[in-house]
Amino acid sequence: MYKSFFGLKENPFNVNPDPRYLFLTKQIEEALSGLMYGIQTRKGFITLTGEVGTGKTTLVNRLLDWLHLKRTKTAFLFNSRMNSSQLFDFILAEFDIQCDNRSKSQQLMKLNHWLLDRYRAGETAVLIVDEAQNLTFPVLRSVCASPERQQSPRYSQPRRWTRYIFIPWGYRG
Ligand SMILES: Nc1ncnc2c1ncn2[C@@H]1O[C@H](COP(=O)(O)OP(=O)(O)OP(=O)(O)O)[C@@H](O)[C@H]1O
Ligand SMILES: [Mg+2]
Repeated sequence: MYKSFFGLKENPFNVNPDPRYLFLTKQIEEALSGLMYGIQTRKGFITLTGEVGTGKTTLVNRLLDWLHLKRTKTAFLFNSRMNSSQLFDFILAEFDIQCDNRSKSQQLMKLNHWLLDRYRAGETAVLIVDEAQNLTFPVLRSVCASPERQQSPRYSQPRRWTRYIFIPWGYRG
């Protein structure tokens, strides 16, 4: 109805933000280049904050398109209301890592080995958490566990684990 009446090429009012229609304001452009730069230079954690409805999720979808073009491994977590066990299930599934054992230590080991393989292959893996304000502190800490291990003597080589975690954060002040 809208298409014919207004002469539109596509249906308006889609539920999911469409990155093709991201309007690059100065701020959006800066945020996007900041995220790209952070990923390319292996900055580790990056946090994006902004008022409700300012385009964070749309921007992230554009970033995902860019990452897919570069064949970067990505895991996009859009529902962050989960416990750490669910989170690791989700991360393994998103990165397509096979792990028959459901114990958390085995899952972590699989993930760490996989990340090390990616690093050796010169590849990058990016975890994106949308609505990251919903992560509880213990879950956030479990996500951070591996980079901490990176500092241990056994893994003394800096940035050995190829892992970037980027967290858009819906600010609801
Ligand atoms: N720069 C932009 N270009 C095109 N559309 C935009 C832009 N910014 C926001 N929008 C539109 O505004 C709506 C809200 O955007 P989006 O969901 O990305 O915001 P958000 O910052 O993630 O919001 P929230 O904090 O609620 O998660 C979407 O329909 C989106 O398409
Ligand atoms: Mg959003």
